[in-house]
Amino acid sequence: MRVVFLGPQGVGKGTQAALLGARLAIPALSTGDMLRAEVKAGTPLGQEADAIMKRGELVPDEIMLGMIKKRISEPDAVRGFILDGFPRNIAQAEGLDALLAEEGRPIDAAIRFRAPRELLLKRLSGRRSCPVCGSVYNMETNPPRKDELCDKDGTVLVQRPDDSEEAINRRLDIYVTQTKPLSTYYEAKGVLKEVDGTRSIEQVRDDVAAALGLTAASSRVGAQ
Ligand code: AP5
Repeated sequence: MRVVFLGPQGVGKGTQAALLGARLAIPALSTGDMLRAEVKAGTPLGQEADAIMKRGELVPDEIMLGMIKKRISEPDAVRGFILDGFPRNIAQAEGLDALLAEEGRPIDAAIRFRAPRELLLKRLSGRRSCPVCGSVYNMETNPPRKDELCDKDGTVLVQRPDDSEEAINRRLDIYVTQTKPLSTYYEAKGVLKEVDGTRSIEQVRDDVAAALGLTAASSRVGAQ
């Protein structure tokens, strides 16, 4: 299954992509995580992306398309993938479609998560992540078991540098002007599904499953 997750920053795309990826045994591909790995490794691409990401702006389309083209051609993505954070604008969506058309494997579904801006700001300000394994927590809604330490490896959790108020507001503005129009794009292709992102992580997980025609899972989830 090839799925695109759409929705504003903080709505829970990364959280849900990890859950669905684990359930379907397909990779959850976050372009934000890929870029952060480049920044951490200090590659030329990472150096270029670092300042752009800190400002909350978009990295150029050619770079993003090249990155996705390479990643979806890897063996673990043959059975499918979930795209979290890509495409971000119409040019990226058209580029992705052209790539997939060459291989005869189009997008099966685009899920759009919705939530009001006040809730997004609240969630983003409470977000903490593990710099080692990438697990994501929320100090209010999905806290770690002990202090600000990762449940999986005990590392001290950190706040993302682009979760400053100024960068969050810029990212949300760019979402409205550039990314939101993708709903119309995927609706016209007949693959758009809407999910209410304001519900609990478990409820949203089950709504995603229902939107994709899967049965609901039963367990409570921890950090992703
Ligand atoms: P990226 O890493 O994609 O960040 P983003 O777009 O800002 O999205 P977020 O990660 O903030 O939101 P999310 O919906 O995944 O929320 P999460 O699940 O963490 O991109 C970063 C930057 O990289 C971009 O700004 C850009 O510069 C660059 N970039 C990336 N892709 C690009 C592209 N294609 N083109 C160009 N540039 C690109 O949840 C948020 C919080 O809420 C967490 O604390 C979580 O625990 C909590 N939470 C989640 N769900 C729930 C729930 N249901 N109830 C309660 N709490 C919840």
